[in-house]
Amino acid sequence: MSESVVTRTDSGIAPVAPIARDHVIPLAVLAELTHRCPLQCPYCSNPLDLERAGQELTTGEWRKTLSELAQIGVLQIHFSGGEPTVRKDLAEIVKHANDAGLYTNLITSAVLLTKDKLKDLADAGLSHIQISFQGSETIVADRVAGLAKSHDKKIQVARWSRELDLPLTVNAVMHRQNLHQLSDVIQMAVDLDADRLEIANVQYYGWALKNRAALMPTLEQIEDCTRIVEDAQVRLKGTLAIDYVVPDYYAIRPKKCMGGWGRQFFNISPSGKVLPCHAAETITGLAFDSVRDHSIAWIWENSEALNRYRGTGWMPEPCRSCDHREEDYGGCRCQAFALTGDAGNTDPACALSPLHEGIFKTAEQEAAEGASQFIYRNFSGGTREEDIINRA
Ligand code: SF4
Ligand code: FES
Repeated sequence: MSESVVTRTDSGIAPVAPIARDHVIPLAVLAELTHRCPLQCPYCSNPLDLERAGQELTTGEWRKTLSELAQIGVLQIHFSGGEPTVRKDLAEIVKHANDAGLYTNLITSAVLLTKDKLKDLADAGLSHIQISFQGSETIVADRVAGLAKSHDKKIQVARWSRELDLPLTVNAVMHRQNLHQLSDVIQMAVDLDADRLEIANVQYYGWALKNRAALMPTLEQIEDCTRIVEDAQVRLKGTLAIDYVVPDYYAIRPKKCMGGWGRQFFNISPSGKVLPCHAAETITGLAFDSVRDHSIAWIWENSEALNRYRGTGWMPEPCRSCDHREEDYGGCRCQAFALTGDAGNTDPACALSPLHEGIFKTAEQEAAEGASQFIYRNFSGGTREEDIINRA
């Protein structure tokens, strides 16, 4: 099932390894430079065991990794975290990526940026900035972020970005406690002169699962949300591109998560592990290879963990004999693990899964009666919102 082909050799670099037909060199790769972060979002997608600063790849290791990515034909690099701007060498890393010919995108909470730091990044060749927002105004947004004055700072950095001519994407993660602000979030993105708005409903694995009852939207909220987004997509055509991710629990068919496990995307953890998605380490029993031990080309082709759920051969019923198996690749492995304890099961977001009805009922019940307070994410293992309120 493999042949000696390599996609995209525009860089003029020779093919590096046999590539199986059912996976290709990714167009874009996500580099998680650190898990350190000043925010404490209750839906944080980083693994439950955060990697410490001392485990992070050095500047030199990132340089080598970025060069390898360019050599195998990757075109874009997204710098993320945690909060990537905590790395003091970020401008140096961006410059190296830019010099290697990669399109560079910074995915940031923005709260640590100054105008000078942003200018340094733009001078280093940063191609694009993506700023995450937790709502449309201070009270809701600062509460969700777990950091006072964060919203105002984000607005400021978004304005500086446009002054520096950096293309801007606004990223908004939505849930029961901020969906009422959706129309205002869309208007905020227009007012900030953003090129793109990504509206993503929370996905429930990792830390978000601990806060599911506080975050799960009602079905009515999701129906309203979909209508608002569809109206805005028509009204703002040519002004603002809007991407929209619906929550799995109310879906009938699962999302084609990451385009299929290990098919067309990977990310690199702060310590250099090559993962098929940001949440893959929530699945126990998988060992991921590191850029410290192997070349990227070797890992992409040979990693046991990447090969485990590639293609369709691993699938159980009902996926195995389903006509949709090459459309959604059985949904999300991380969600299957979170909800069934086995990443090799059909994603319960699929109506054909025997567990689907149960998760739909759970969603409805939690949305109606769930907790309203968060468990914040941080390096101390989490903080209950009620404890903060009681201490104040
Ligand atoms: Fe997709 Fe499997 Fe559901 Fe078929 S049964 S729609 S392949 S998740
Ligand atoms: Fe890991 Fe979907 S988030 S496979």
